[in-house]
This record gives sequence, structure tokens and C-alpha cells, in this order.
Amino acid sequence: MHKMKVGLIGCGNIGTDVCIALQKGDIPAEVAALTDIDRSRAEQMARSFQLSATICDLEENAASVDFLVECADAGVVAKVVDAAIRHRRDCLILSLGGLMTTPELLEAARQHGVQIWLPSGALAGLDGVRAGREGGLDRVTLTTRKPPGGLKGAPYLAERGISLDGLKEPKVVFDGTALEAVKAFPKNVNVAAALSFAGIGPERTRVRVIADPRATANSHEIVAEGAFGRLVAMTENLPSPRNAKSSYLASLSGCAELRAAAEAFVMRRAEGAGRCG
Ligand SMILES: NC(=O)c1ccc[n+]([C@@H]2O[C@H](COP(=O)([O-])OP(=O)(O)OC[C@H]3O[C@@H](n4cnc5c(N)ncnc54)[C@H](O)[C@@H]3O)[C@@H](O)[C@H]2O)c1
Repeated sequence: MHKMKVGLIGCGNIGTDVCIALQKGDIPAEVAALTDIDRSRAEQMARSFQLSATICDLEENAASVDFLVECADAGVVAKVVDAAIRHRRDCLILSLGGLMTTPELLEAARQHGVQIWLPSGALAGLDGVRAGREGGLDRVTLTTRKPPGGLKGAPYLAERGISLDGLKEPKVVFDGTALEAVKAFPKNVNVAAALSFAGIGPERTRVRVIADPRATANSHEIVAEGAFGRLVAMTENLPSPRNAKSSYLASLSGCAELRAAAEAFVMRRAEGAGRCG
């Protein structure tokens, strides 16, 4: 069977989770090219997973593979989507925040017939939000609850001099739009973006952030209301085994999208070969 050739952009924690998923062998895809701003990370990844992959820049990567996986940084997303469009490669974007302020990128990809796969990240319930959108959504809210330590260093708290030391009760530290949340809590950007894309966009999606001294995990709750009724979906996330600052479910959602993309790719190939034969 012809496996889908994957070009990885970003050889960090999520890139490693992708390699681990592919190593198991039941996703019809293989890493064929690696790009990282820090070449030594790409070299390390090739060694660790014994990949016969080319280590190259984004342009060469996009030219030589079937599918791109971006798991690097929001700042590189526009370049990845541009390369995907020029080389007619579908791609999976993990750094969803990079698409939040540039929705025209998604439109450009659509117009060129390039599919951009967006993972659900650390959230559940986006299928219901997407379905609800078809009938009209009135309100979509994301409530993120974290132990106070998990919010340390957030620009919003620093700018307002909000201290969470010695907090005894849950405290709402932010209530605003998803677009505002991205600047205030950059670590929340991917969940806010994923929900915005599934539902009513970053200006209408509400985000609340709660510092909760009783919380033992980061949780995300979605409430969506519309013509369909009301949806409530919640995840209580454990950290990734490789990165305490990232939810494991986020990496796994990327792997699940990659599996779906690879299965669709090999099926299209087989159908194409059948027609030729
Ligand atoms: N969608 C989600 O739910 C979700 C969840 C967690 C992380 N993310 C995003 O995925 C991305 C990767 O996360 P991670 O935990 O693997 O990070 P990481 O820091 O472990 O790895 C990122 C890798 O990308 C490389 N890199 C950085 N900028 C680059 C550039 N411009 N070009 C090429 N390589 C570059 C770094 O050198 C590093 O090796 C981040 O943008 C993060 O915000 C998304």
C-alpha cells in the first residue's frame, strides 16, 4: 500500500507524539521530510525514530511530500498555508492561533481546493457546535478552569497586577471575547481558536477563565445554545507525558486528524489507480 508521505514542520513535543503514533504502524502515513527552525531538533528526531526523512526548509518539504503537518509556532502558519496552496498539499495545522487573526488564509485554501485539517485540541463537543451552526447559534461560551499556578505569567494578570497567591475560592479572572482572550491568555489560544472556527467566530465566542485552587487538572467546558437546543461538553485534561504544559488530548486530537487524512488519501489513491486500470 502506498503510504501518505508526511512533511513535519516543528520537531518538538507534538511532532514527537505524531512520530510515536506513526511508529505504531496502523496509520497509513510515514514521515518523509522534517523542518525545524533549530536544525538539531530535526536531526535528533530523525535519529530517535530512525526516519529516512529529508531534513530541509519549508519549501523543499512542501515540494516533496503528500501532506504537511504544522506543529511549530503560530508565526509560521501563514507560510505553511501559502506553501500548501502553491504545492497543492492538504495540511494539518496545530497552531490554530496562527489562523485566528487571518481567516482569509482558510478562504484562500478553500478556493484553491486545498483542505486544511483543524484538530479539536483539548476540547470535546465541537461536532455538536458545528452541527448547531447549521441551524443558527445564539451563544457559545468556553469556560477554562485551571489551578492558579497554571495561570502564572499570563500577560492579562501581570498587566492588571492580579495576584492569585493564597487564593481560597474559585475566581473568574477573565470574561471577554475569544479574540480578546488570545492576547490576554496566549496559552489558551488554541482552544479559543478551535471553538471559534467550529461555531460563531472569535468576536462572538465568549471565553471565561477561572483560577480554581481546588482544580487538579485543566478543564474546558463548552456551552452552546441555538435553534437546536443547548449543548454542554467538558474535558478534564491530563498533561502530555512529554510536556507538562500541554494537554495530552491536544496531541492525540492531532494524531486522530492525521489518521483520518491519511485514510482518505490512500482511499483516493486506490480509487484513482482503479480508474486508470
Ligand atoms: N491545537 C492545539 O490544541 C494545540 C495544543 C498544544 C500546542 N499547540 C501548538 O502546537 C505548536 C507546537 O507545540 P509543541 O508543544 O510541540 O511545541 P514545542 O516547543 O515542543 O515544539 C515546537 C518546535 O517547533 C520549532 N519551531 C518554532 N518555530 C518554528 C518555525 N518558525 N519554523 C520551524 N520550526 C519552528 C521549535 O524549534 C520546536 O522544535 C505550538 O504552536 C502550540 O501552540 C496546539
